[in-house]
Amino acid sequence: MRALTWHGKHDVRVDTVDDPEILNPRDAIIKITSTAICGSDLHLYDGYIPTMQAGDILGHEFMGEVVETGPKSTLQKGQRVVVPFTIACGSCYHCGKHQYSACDNGNPADNQDIGREMYGQPMSGLFGYSHLTGGYAGGQAEYVRVPFSDVGPIVVPDGLDDDEVLFLSDILPTGWQAAENADIEPGDTVAVWGCGPVGLFAVQSAFLMGAKRVIAIDHFPHRLELAKKFGAETINFEESKTYEALMDMTGGIGPDAVIDAVGLEAHGFFVDNVIDQIKATMFLGTDRTHSIRQAIHACRKGGRVSMPAVYGGFVDKFPLGAFMEKGLTLKTGQTSVQHYMPALLNAIVEGKIDTTFLISHRMPLEQAPEGYKMFHDKQNEVTKIVLKPGMDLAQAA
Ligand SMILES: NC(=O)c1ccc[n+]([C@@H]2O[C@H](COP(=O)([O-])OP(=O)(O)OC[C@H]3O[C@@H](n4cnc5c(N)ncnc54)[C@H](O)[C@@H]3O)[C@@H](O)[C@H]2O)c1
Ligand SMILES: [Zn+2]
Ligand SMILES: [Zn+2]
Repeated sequence: MRALTWHGKHDVRVDTVDDPEILNPRDAIIKITSTAICGSDLHLYDGYIPTMQAGDILGHEFMGEVVETGPKSTLQKGQRVVVPFTIACGSCYHCGKHQYSACDNGNPADNQDIGREMYGQPMSGLFGYSHLTGGYAGGQAEYVRVPFSDVGPIVVPDGLDDDEVLFLSDILPTGWQAAENADIEPGDTVAVWGCGPVGLFAVQSAFLMGAKRVIAIDHFPHRLELAKKFGAETINFEESKTYEALMDMTGGIGPDAVIDAVGLEAHGFFVDNVIDQIKATMFLGTDRTHSIRQAIHACRKGGRVSMPAVYGGFVDKFPLGAFMEKGLTLKTGQTSVQHYMPALLNAIVEGKIDTTFLISHRMPLEQAPEGYKMFHDKQNEVTKIVLKPGMDLAQAA
């Protein structure tokens, strides 16, 4: 089959690789109909995530048709399913608490030592996201093997297009969990750093959870416009100073809750960000944590910090003093997608959440390397790329 493979920094290729096979009784094989490129994929593309190997198949946002099932899969051939990017067994201690992204069995045992050493406990399994998370082949391919197919995938009701439901695989539940982790109370003012897909879904979710005002921060005008469409006020950090603007907008109090939807590749010519950048270049660190530092600095006393953004390593200049003295709380984590999928599917069916606004480009899988480059280089215009195996070039838009 054809699949998008990683070969090093800024080097991804569509190669011919072996077709996936059923390995465990609970597996299913899915024929991919749509798969998206994520901001998290850019962290791999830019070489920031350790334990990648040449030839790894990328992609963790995908959906398609069931074409093969193991004897213990509950899926049936021909069903259309969306697959969560987190691989979870459904029955371990953490799955029992609906913390699917902390599943103890999603990551094969012989892979668990790296996470244990780095983080104290092994990470759970994720599709297409390094050997730290299991080394699973991802879904930017014609076919993918889905482990624990009786737990993760959700069957799509008739009448819904791929475009409407694809983002249930990651970014919609991630934006939702980000807002939920902000413990929003009716009337709150919530500030969201980053108007990428995750930030934009966090904006929509925050309003649905009762926020009175949402303030969205970025520097790409088109992305800020999208946030405005959903009712957010905006700050362009290249035109105004974010902290000062937030204080002005909140009568000097600061936002009740802050959400960092930027992550380890923060943009901007800020002193701390430049130092982080130099350290990354010299292999002295990986994470550029400007946005979470600023979010903590701006948050009101007693406020809540939610961090869906991905960070990987050890950081310095973390404002621990501000965090303690202001009495803040922080919630974060990879998204427990399985927990949110059914309710969010209903929200889509009922028209409460708009998902299709985000897609700026549809391309054949064969053009995935160009897609990665565009998503990396032109973030203003390119908000989300959906790859479709077998798509005719003439249909690309
Ligand atoms: N927790 C999870 O399970 C999960 C799932 C998906 C994505 N993520 C992470 O969420 C983050 C966002 O994902 P995305 O797909 O929206 O990414 P993205 O790269 O499309 O968007 C990030 C946005 O942040 C903006 N930004 C950069 N520096 C900024 C700054 N200093 N202040 C304000 N905005 C700034 C960028 O301009 C961009 O629009 C990434 O770190 C991604 O890895 C986490
Ligand atoms: Zn993603
Ligand atoms: Zn589990």
